[in-house]
Amino acid sequence: MPSSSSSLKAGHRLSGLVLGVFIALHLGNHVLALHSIAWHQWGMTRLRLVYRQPVVETLLLAAVLWQIGSGLLLVCRGWPPATPFFERVQGYSGLYLALFLLIHVGAVLVGRYVWHVETDFYFAARGLNTAPWYWFFGPYYLLAVGAIFGHLAAAHYRNRRNRDRAPMEALLILVSGFVLGLLLVLGFTNYFRGIPVPVALVKAVHW
Ligand code: HEM
Ligand code: HEM
Repeated sequence: MPSSSSSLKAGHRLSGLVLGVFIALHLGNHVLALHSIAWHQWGMTRLRLVYRQPVVETLLLAAVLWQIGSGLLLVCRGWPPATPFFERVQGYSGLYLALFLLIHVGAVLVGRYVWHVETDFYFAARGLNTAPWYWFFGPYYLLAVGAIFGHLAAAHYRNRRNRDRAPMEALLILVSGFVLGLLLVLGFTNYFRGIPVPVALVKAVHW
């Protein structure tokens, strides 16, 4: 019979793969902002046709909660993390993702159901284009994308059969995450030139 620890790992891994599909599409959508806001809105409208279906969205939000809960348990059980660099990256990136997802998804839900605003491009762009908040939101998004790739890099490092190639490939995945994170921040700030946010959104969002 599998131990509770190996079932937890298997469950975390399985829902991680499902969530990974959403995250890949979500980040792919954000890449479109490098071209224009219109392209980003076009992509989001299409993706919403799927993930805004009540059944799909409920499953998605449940997967997020499960991922955080199971991940935290895995970190607690495996603490302190083993010394190899990527074992530590797995734990620390997971801890950051737990914090990020709670704030990020919480903010989207508050935006929709409390502030009654559109949680589209401008909702994310507001923090990144408002002084002094961009000093928080820039690193916050950069680290989130870095952390998701770091988490993937750690999994790749652990499971790669060719041990000689594992460290360099994992490092490449980790670095690509930070490069992508920087590109997304550039897309949401019009390459640091700033994006005017609709006045109605500024008035509706209280922070
Ligand atoms: C977007 C969210 C997440 C995704 C997509 C994800 C995905 C994964 C995947 C696929 C693995 C399996 C790695 C392998 O096969 O070796 C894994 C492992 C792990 N994750 Fe996550 N994870 C997420 C969030 C979290 C969070 C929030 C935490 C902790 C707070 C966490 C902690 C861990 C730990 C400790 C392991 C290693 C388990 C072991 O010892 O094998 N993860 N994650
Ligand atoms: C530059 C980075 C990111 C930006 C600008 C961003 C922006 C957004 C926006 C605007 C929404 C609202 C979508 C909608 O209303 O249809 C959203 C939702 C969401 N994001 Fe992100 N996101 C980023 C990175 C991430 C990452 C790295 C993850 C996962 C680790 C993530 C997970 C989610 C989830 C789970 C939702 C909720 C979807 C829903 O139920 O509506 N995001 N994000």
